[in-house]
Amino acid sequence: MERLKQYLPILKNPNTQQKGNFSIEVLNPEKGDYLLIDSTNKDWFPIHEDIPELLTTQLLYPQTLEHFKQYYANHIEDLGLEFPVLATNQQQLEQRAHFDNFSEDDKFSYDDFENLPFWIAVDAFVHEYYNLSAQEECFVLDIGCGNGRSIERFIPENAKIIGIDISRKMLQKAKKRTQASDALLMVGDATFPPFVEDCFDFCITSGVLSNLPNPTQTCQSIHKILKKGGAHLGLENNKSIFRLPFDILNSFISIWKNKKGKEPEISPKILKRWYAGCNIDIDSKTLVFLPPQMFSKNDVDSAKKRLRKSDNFFKSIGFKKQGGLITFKVSKQ
Ligand SMILES: C[S@@+](CC[C@H](N)C(=O)[O-])C[C@H]1O[C@@H](n2cnc3c(N)ncnc32)[C@H](O)[C@@H]1O
Repeated sequence: MERLKQYLPILKNPNTQQKGNFSIEVLNPEKGDYLLIDSTNKDWFPIHEDIPELLTTQLLYPQTLEHFKQYYANHIEDLGLEFPVLATNQQQLEQRAHFDNFSEDDKFSYDDFENLPFWIAVDAFVHEYYNLSAQEECFVLDIGCGNGRSIERFIPENAKIIGIDISRKMLQKAKKRTQASDALLMVGDATFPPFVEDCFDFCITSGVLSNLPNPTQTCQSIHKILKKGGAHLGLENNKSIFRLPFDILNSFISIWKNKKGKEPEISPKILKRWYAGCNIDIDSKTLVFLPPQMFSKNDVDSAKKRLRKSDNFFKSIGFKKQGGLITFKVSKQ
């Protein structure tokens, strides 16, 4: 809990969208169970298996609340706190169910997906583009951090890191993977990341905006929580003229399972619209001009070579903006 304690002053209460006056009540450290209490309005959030759920009552996991009811109802009552009455947010819950299942799928899990040589080659390109290793010190929020892939592959170890994701099961994987780092992981919603303004040097959304029901709100929230001069770094599907053949091939030989959000493909123009009213500067690059199925299944070096060669070729003949993926930096001015 030491990591969480360090960050209490920057947390917002997701129900009120106000800075909270948070403290931690110990329940059962062996199970990693605690309460995160906001004394301003006697609101509380469960911390289970050492993972805080800083979510609105529309998104809290019923299973977590059941667990707390079963083991700690008296303790919670003695503190003068009440159990929240759950509401629902259907779209968000469907996304969560998709990724909870994907994280544990025996046939093809998210871990199998991200370890395809194709993705390792893409991530190496993106790592170079973000260039976070050049930072002396920075505070990074990985929004939709999933199983920890983007933390491990893009964020240097000397950074202060918080990762939030709507899926507890993805976070459980991330927790194992990032044990060596100081990352704080929380169940949290990308629509309103629960942090005060002017907090982070960088926010990362890697394959996340395309899943969301309201990416405009997410970008507006990111703009608030970034420091001036900070940047939103992202990787998404690009709005490309090659999208249709990519999608048709993937429907026959599927190598990923996506649950599309409101706007599943993006472009600099769309980013500008999501950031309407914000003083920003956008830089972007597209990549991947061959279908992922054409990359080696088990040789990372060949996948990297093929990616570099094919990208250079298509860009040299005038298709610079038409790669299947887009990676971007939106800087807050
Ligand atoms: C395609 S995965 C990307 C994971 C990771 N960033 C990566 O690069 O591998 C999308 C992630 O977004 C998360 N997600 C979807 N909707 C979300 C929301 N409303 N708030 C936070 N995370 C969300 C999913 O649970 C999932 O882990």
